[in-house]
This record gives sequence, structure tokens and C-alpha cells, in this order.
Amino acid sequence: MRLMQHKKEAFWFYRYLSIFYDKLVNPLFWTKKMRDDALMIGQLETPNVQVIDVGSGTGFTTEGIVRLVPATQVTCVDQSPHQMSKAKKKASLQGCTFKIGDAENIPFPTDHFDRYVSAGSIEYWPNPQKGITEAYRVIKAGGVATMIGPLDPPHALGSFIANTWMLFPKDAEYRDWFKQAGFENIEVKYVAPHWIKYKDKYCISISGTKPKAGVSPIETTQLLKEVVPEGQKENFGLWRALQLFGRVVIGSIAGFIFIPVALFGYLRNSFTSQEHIAPEYRERLNGYQITALVVLFALLIALIVSLIN
Ligand SMILES: C[S@@+](CC[C@H](N)C(=O)[O-])C[C@H]1O[C@@H](n2cnc3c(N)ncnc32)[C@H](O)[C@@H]1O
Repeated sequence: MRLMQHKKEAFWFYRYLSIFYDKLVNPLFWTKKMRDDALMIGQLETPNVQVIDVGSGTGFTTEGIVRLVPATQVTCVDQSPHQMSKAKKKASLQGCTFKIGDAENIPFPTDHFDRYVSAGSIEYWPNPQKGITEAYRVIKAGGVATMIGPLDPPHALGSFIANTWMLFPKDAEYRDWFKQAGFENIEVKYVAPHWIKYKDKYCISISGTKPKAGVSPIETTQLLKEVVPEGQKENFGLWRALQLFGRVVIGSIAGFIFIPVALFGYLRNSFTSQEHIAPEYRERLNGYQITALVVLFALLIALIVSLIN
């Protein structure tokens, strides 16, 4: 169903999620350690590289990029002004360039950047192959693109709920999209938060090198057909408005099911030693998440009491 794998749905989802994205949601699923490990295959340490971060959101991954590249060499693109306004306020991101834009029609010329990064955004793109072909287009020959995204959960129920929410591609799909786009020297790395059991089935980071200048060899093929072609306005009547509302509500519910799962996972692991992990990478619940956990427990107790009576 993938209710949120649409540009408008994703826009409205982040219209409200941006309010508590950094405080409550993001740190449960996408940690500093995962981010910095995932970026390792992006060849960002190369001097003087110009980097584009697509679907940059509130700038969490951009904060990882600017540990390796001066902020003045980093351009952030996102379709959500609400997410971007949070990024713009972050001290470490002062100096970055910010531009509202679509991952499937990046508002920059061909052969423009040295590195492309996108983290946790592909799951909202109606045509992921198109987005990856855009990654290919905007970097120069010899440039490297890194895509970080979720993997289809290994259990049937988890996979069903995740794919009701948005796109959770299979490992092989990421590799095929990169190959089809024309990338070479493809590398992958798997990352996961500590509460996840299957470490290589949660999140993939995949990078590839653009062998020669110009657009992707598949630029003119059917694979890149847009759901709503550029320049053609989507017919937005009452039915589409109701559909959009329903999809955002049900899609959000499917996504939010993973919040208690992650909170209880954190709780289960909270007594294990993290001494071997550098202090900045230790995963602990923050005040907002503890409050959410207390509310969940209270609701659970209220439910049990009402069932008993
Ligand atoms: C889960 S957030 C990830 C944000 C950030 N990269 C991070 O690591 O925290 C996904 C972001 O992708 C953006 N997004 C979704 N579809 C997009 C599209 N077609 N073009 C550009 N950005 C998009 C959303 O607005 C949102 O900010």
C-alpha cells in the first residue's frame, strides 16, 4: 500500500512530524553512530569536495557530513520547508546552502557536485530509480553518491506494517537501482541501532562512483516515468483531499506503531553496558522519550484495568 510514498503525503506528514522529529522520533531509529558509520563509504574526507544532501530534513545527517566537510561546501535540498527551517537554525549548519526541491528533479545542473548523500528519504519517493538517476546526474565524473535507506523487515508482520507506511526496499533493489543508473564500484554497509536484533536487515548505506560525465544511461527509458509528470498539475479535488487526509492518518498510525517497539527495545537494553562505546555514541533515552514511555505505560495500565472491571 505504501501510503506515504507520495510527494504530497510526505509533505503533510512532515508538516506536523517536524515539530517533534529531532526530539522524539529520529534518535530512536537513526543514531549518530549509524549515521557516521553509514557515511564512511561516501568518500567525504577528500579535500575540497562540494556535497549535496538530498532529503536533508532537519539536518541530522548534514551534521554528520559537516564533521568531514566544511559547511560552506554543503548544499541541502528538501521538499519540506518545515523540516528545513529546523536545519537552518542549527549552529553547525550555518554556512550550508539550503534549497527547497524535489529529489526526483533536483534543482541543480548536470555534473555539478562531487558527492551526493541522501539518508532516510528514498522511502517517500514515488520512483526511487528516478531519484537515484538524479543522484547520478548531479555529480561529476568520478564523483560518489551514497544512499542510506531502510530495508524490508525480515518478519512478515513487520514488513506488512512498514510497507503500509512507506517503501521499505529489499537489499537487491538498492543494488539494482544503482547498477541501472550506471554507477560503478558499488559498496554497501549495514547499520542499525542497538535495540535491533538483525543488524544487516535494518538499514543499508550504498555508494557508487559515476564513471563518466553527463546524464545516466537510462535517462530516457520507461523506468523513469513520473507518477505525476513534471509541469502537469495533479487534479486536486475533494476526493483527492479526502484521500490525502486518509492516507496521511493511516500511514502515520502504521509508522507510529514502531515508536513503542523502539522505546521498549531501548528499555530492554538499557541495563547493558555501553562502556565499550565512545560517550558521544551511547544510545540513551532522552526526556521526551521517557515521557512518551511513561504515557504508554499509563495507557497500558488503564486498558488492563478497564478490561478487568
Ligand atoms: C526521515 S527524513 C530524513 C531527514 C534527514 N536526511 C535525516 O537524516 O534526518 C526524510 C526527509 O525526506 C524529505 N523528502 C521526502 N520526499 C522528498 C522528495 N521527493 N524530495 C525531497 N525531499 C523529500 C522529507 O521532507 C524529509 O525531510
